[in-house]
Amino acid sequence: MSKLLNKLKYKRDSVTLEELIFLLSTNKFDKKIFEIADEVREKYVGNEVHIRAIIEFSNFCKMDCLYCGLRRQNKNIKRYRMNPEEILKRVRLIAEKNIKTVVLQSGEDPYYNTEIIENLIIEIKKMNLAVTLSIGERNFEEYKIWKNAGADRYLMRHETADPNLYKKLHPSDTFENRKSHLLKLKELGYEIGGGCMVGLPGQGPYELAKDLIFLREIDSDMIGIGPFIPNPETPLRKEKGGNLNTTLKMIALSRILIPTANIPATTAMGSIHPFGRQIALKCGANVIMPNLTPNPYRPNYTLYPNKICLFERDTACINCVKGMITNLGREIGKSFGFRIKNLQTNEV
Ligand code: 5AD
Ligand code: FES
Repeated sequence: MSKLLNKLKYKRDSVTLEELIFLLSTNKFDKKIFEIADEVREKYVGNEVHIRAIIEFSNFCKMDCLYCGLRRQNKNIKRYRMNPEEILKRVRLIAEKNIKTVVLQSGEDPYYNTEIIENLIIEIKKMNLAVTLSIGERNFEEYKIWKNAGADRYLMRHETADPNLYKKLHPSDTFENRKSHLLKLKELGYEIGGGCMVGLPGQGPYELAKDLIFLREIDSDMIGIGPFIPNPETPLRKEKGGNLNTTLKMIALSRILIPTANIPATTAMGSIHPFGRQIALKCGANVIMPNLTPNPYRPNYTLYPNKICLFERDTACINCVKGMITNLGREIGKSFGFRIKNLQTNEV
């Protein structure tokens, strides 16, 4: 066994699917995996935790993903759209608070056409911020226009790298198509953010191991991993959700396999455990994304139940995450927090 742990430390590129399946099938080595992930994190991305302010600007969605509370068929949700002026007002506030990245997230909402998004990017770039888009699948031409307008990064979780499970969860999409979007975004020069949920129905060690291999294969610059949390307003309401330990292990293993990636301690981690995000930051994560969606909209962006921060006041999450970072003995990131790729060594 020490041989496999040694491989994690010194030969990460040669870790195989079978070995990952094994590590995901037993809890025996978890403590060791978490320790290695923390060491790798410190060595490759240091002690800084980057803060990315997220604005969930629309909860309209044309898709019907089986797990998601924003799915089109959910009639039990109050839909909202922020107009560009409202969004920019919020971004100005974020810039004043000296945060360096804004994440614009929404459901898949074609109301925001090419030009609206382009103009938002142009205006935000004038404020000297990094811009991350997280607005779902669009056409390749739009990705290009937005890149030229100054967009820096694009979050698009692959959700699951098992094509059959992907198809079941996303009736109108395929895993191959998802992959092609991620690769196109990368080719255009975006930093890309893949990632998955953990604990989906039908997802075991084999499927999870494939997620990790996929993230390594596409060399994902950012990696968002969180537990699946069953939403009562969706067809998956009766399923069991993901647990803290397995999700943590997925975060830790992604850190080990892709050492320079930027990996958030996700909101979903914080939603299944009061210290979920702090624990993630100690097992490989180096990014945190405070919720800056303004009221009255914030409580309506309900991907899953018990989402944290919905009733926090306005900008409270900024101070909250800053306190979290300092309490852990880490540093608040001061730069834009782009991926550091210059360390070439394959050793811890
Ligand atoms: N539980 C956990 N995560 C979810 N997401 C959507 N619905 C759920 C849920 N029920 C995640 C997806 C998506 C991200 C924005 O939120 O992975 O990519
Ligand atoms: Fe929102 Fe702590 S991050 S209250």
